[in-house]
Amino acid sequence: MSDFAKLPKLELHLHLEGAAPPAFIRAQAKRKGVDLSGIFDVAGAYKYTGFVDFLRVYEAACTVLTTPQDFHDLTLAVLEQSAAHGVIYSEAFLSPDFCGGGDLVAWRDYLAAIEAAAATAESQMGITLRGCITCIRHFGPDKARIIARCAQETAGDFITGFGIAGDENAGELPDFIYSFDAAREAGLGLTAHAGEWRGPDEVRAALEHLRVSRIGHGVRAVDDPALVEHLAERGTVLEVCPGSNVVLGVYPDLRAHPIEKLRAAGVAVTVSTDDPPFFHTDMSAEYAGLHRAFGWEQPQFDALAQTALHAAFCDDSTRARLA
Ligand code: ADE
Ligand code: ZN
Repeated sequence: MSDFAKLPKLELHLHLEGAAPPAFIRAQAKRKGVDLSGIFDVAGAYKYTGFVDFLRVYEAACTVLTTPQDFHDLTLAVLEQSAAHGVIYSEAFLSPDFCGGGDLVAWRDYLAAIEAAAATAESQMGITLRGCITCIRHFGPDKARIIARCAQETAGDFITGFGIAGDENAGELPDFIYSFDAAREAGLGLTAHAGEWRGPDEVRAALEHLRVSRIGHGVRAVDDPALVEHLAERGTVLEVCPGSNVVLGVYPDLRAHPIEKLRAAGVAVTVSTDDPPFFHTDMSAEYAGLHRAFGWEQPQFDALAQTALHAAFCDDSTRARLA
């Protein structure tokens, strides 16, 4: 197999701000007179020293995304890149925290701009976007409630999911039960970052307390065979981001990554890029890496697309259109 860009793909785990090309952020910084030179290396790529520093750089980049128009332009730039790699459906984590700080009136304006860009991308590039509102774990449970209210108030055809990202070592998942209950009552699909930095118990906590159908990453579940069996039986879908895990040092290289072991054990795995420019990746590169490391071919890639299609937080008419 060679031309991975041509395979139709569905991506379930992409942070909108984390997909911002460095050049886009640099241009915004220049226009706004903000000095962000410290977050770029000499080649112009994002520069950070580990996961916590990655979060700091990510948040620094977000400081120059200050208007709905910025998010409109960002959405278009991101979808253009995804479409170039064969993505036909993308679910992006959207953060009201970075779009007006959780103020509901402001959030509606940002959301309208993102949706307008998504409509343009759909008609011009044939890529469908849905939004999964995410709270940020290290901002704490009180802030998460405010974000959950934004999710409740804007749930619908476009906002179809709710999740939690950020520093997995900050606080405990039961502190977020209120927010996830609110999102569930609003009819949103649920996912939680877990089992990226903490072990199998954190994946269990996400299932038990937040009652999610999908787990962001979840790869550390592999350390507990009983949990792997449970995930396979229950049909829990893992949003696996191999390139992200390798660059951030969760695993030393792709061959050591557990995605093949999880897949072979019957766990429903999907593949995503997480924050592509931060990890020097894209969906074609993820597929190429899986081909090289594990010999994945058309059947495995078809299975990824089918799993993602079933797990997508979109309505059934959208799912039927994508099938
Ligand atoms: N936010 C953006 N990327 C993330 C990751 N890999 N883990 C947790 N939070 C994130
Ligand atoms: Zn993520």
